[in-house]
Amino acid sequence: MDSFELNKIAGAVLGSLLLVMGLGIISDALFAAPRPAKPGYALPVAEAAVGGPAAAAVEAAPLPVLLAKADAKKGENLIKACAACHNFESGAAAKATGPNLYGVIDRAVGSTAFAYSDSMKGKGGKWDYAQMNAFLANPKGVVAGTKMSYAGEKDAAKRADIILYLRSLASSPAPLPAP
Ligand code: HEC
Repeated sequence: MDSFELNKIAGAVLGSLLLVMGLGIISDALFAAPRPAKPGYALPVAEAAVGGPAAAAVEAAPLPVLLAKADAKKGENLIKACAACHNFESGAAAKATGPNLYGVIDRAVGSTAFAYSDSMKGKGGKWDYAQMNAFLANPKGVVAGTKMSYAGEKDAAKRADIILYLRSLASSPAPLPAP
C-alpha cells in the first residue's frame, strides 16, 4: 500500500465521522425537547385547596378598607387580651412582661426601654399599619424568635379594631391609609 492509498482510506474514515457528527447535530436540532420554564413535572392542583377557607377569611378585605370600617371602642375591649403583658399610658414605664404600647403606630420597632429579644431588636423598620396587621395576625411568623407569647388574632376585622384603637393612643394619631 503506498501513501496515496493510505490517504484515501484516512479521508474516507474522516469523511464518514464528519457525516455521523453532522447527522447528530441536525437530529438534535430537529428533535430538541423544549425546555420547560419550571423544571420538573406539572402536577394538577385543585385551585380551591390552596389557602383554604381560613386564608380566604384573612384576605377578606384590604386593611385600609377594614380600618375605615373599624370600631376603636371594640378595639379598646379587645386589647384587654394584650393588657396582661402591655400597658398603654403615655410616659409610663414598660411592664416587665411587655413594652409600653402608647404611640406604637409608626414607632420604630423595638425602640422603647424594654428588654426586647434579639429578633425584635434586629427586625428594623417601624410599626406601620401593614406591619402591625401582619404581626398581630401571626407574631412568630413576622418576628421569628419573638418573646411575645401571644398566638395572634386571626380575625382581620378584630385586628383592624385593635389597630384603630392603638392609633388613637398618640398625641397626634398617624393618618389612616386611603381605602
Ligand atoms: C403574653 C404576653 C403578651 C401578650 C398577651 C401580648 N404581648 Fe405584645 N409583646 C410582648 C412581649 C414580651 C414583647 C416584646 C417581644 C420581643 O422583644 O421579642 C411584645 C411586643 C409587642 C409589640 C412590639 C412593640 C415594640 O416596641 O416594638 C407590639 C406592637 C405588640 N407587642 C402588640 C401587642 C398587642 C396589640 C397585643 C394584644 C392583641 C399583644 N401585644 C399581646 C408580650 C405580649
